[in-house]
Amino acid sequence: EKKVAIILAAGQGKRMNSKVQKQYMQLCGKPVLFYSLSAFQESTIDEIILVVGKGEIAYCQSEIVEKYSFNKVVKIVEGGTERYHSVYHGIKAIQNADYVYIHDGARPFISNEILDRVTVGVREYNACVVGMPVKDTIKIVDENGFVIETPSRDLVWQVQTPQVFAFALIKEAYEKLMEESIQGITDDAMVVEAILSYPIKLIEGDYTNFKITTPEDIYMAEQYLKEL
Ligand code: CTP
Ligand code: MG
Repeated sequence: EKKVAIILAAGQGKRMNSKVQKQYMQLCGKPVLFYSLSAFQESTIDEIILVVGKGEIAYCQSEIVEKYSFNKVVKIVEGGTERYHSVYHGIKAIQNADYVYIHDGARPFISNEILDRVTVGVREYNACVVGMPVKDTIKIVDENGFVIETPSRDLVWQVQTPQVFAFALIKEAYEKLMEESIQGITDDAMVVEAILSYPIKLIEGDYTNFKITTPEDIYMAEQYLKEL
């Protein structure tokens, strides 16, 4: 059984509003991306494909992969404009695999427990996404901000990563996506849902597996690390 991770770190981090892209920002002295890579390096995953921005390959090779001896990183490839382009570049770099773990580099606190749970899940279901039940009530609104509907909270989950798929399944979905044009793709499960209509199983994650998105997330991440 061969397990390959695609770690995405090619985003611009616009919502962070900082000079340094969020994946390279420091958390207790080490870059955000260090923590995400460490988790996979120390897991049962066999290989890692790291996807980074244009012009950042050499920097990541020396300042992250070599510096911290992430020897599971077999390739560093350039990302694309949208997240799904970066995922596609990652998928193209995989020669063979049974399962592919697509993970946001900006999600540093992914644990071995979650990775183990999702591995068990993908063996049975072929397509799994990690997520948690929402804490707040969610409203669906119209363009003018008026509430249309309040979905039952038990049925609404916020999805995290990794999103894990049988290699053949995710490869087919992304190859077809590149031929068609679908708007508003924000995660990998959407591609599999929309293109192949394949059922996706939700696997329980953890609220600590949050994504670094806005400045307050950096503060929360440092607080979390200090308490470990
Ligand atoms: N990502 C990527 N390639 C892109 C866009 C995003 O590899 N073209 C990665 C980001 O680096 C991040 C993950 O996908 O690890 C989740 O995306 P998001 O949180 O949206 O990050 P950014 O796109 O960088 O941030 P923003 O949307 O605020 O600009
Ligand atoms: Mg983004």
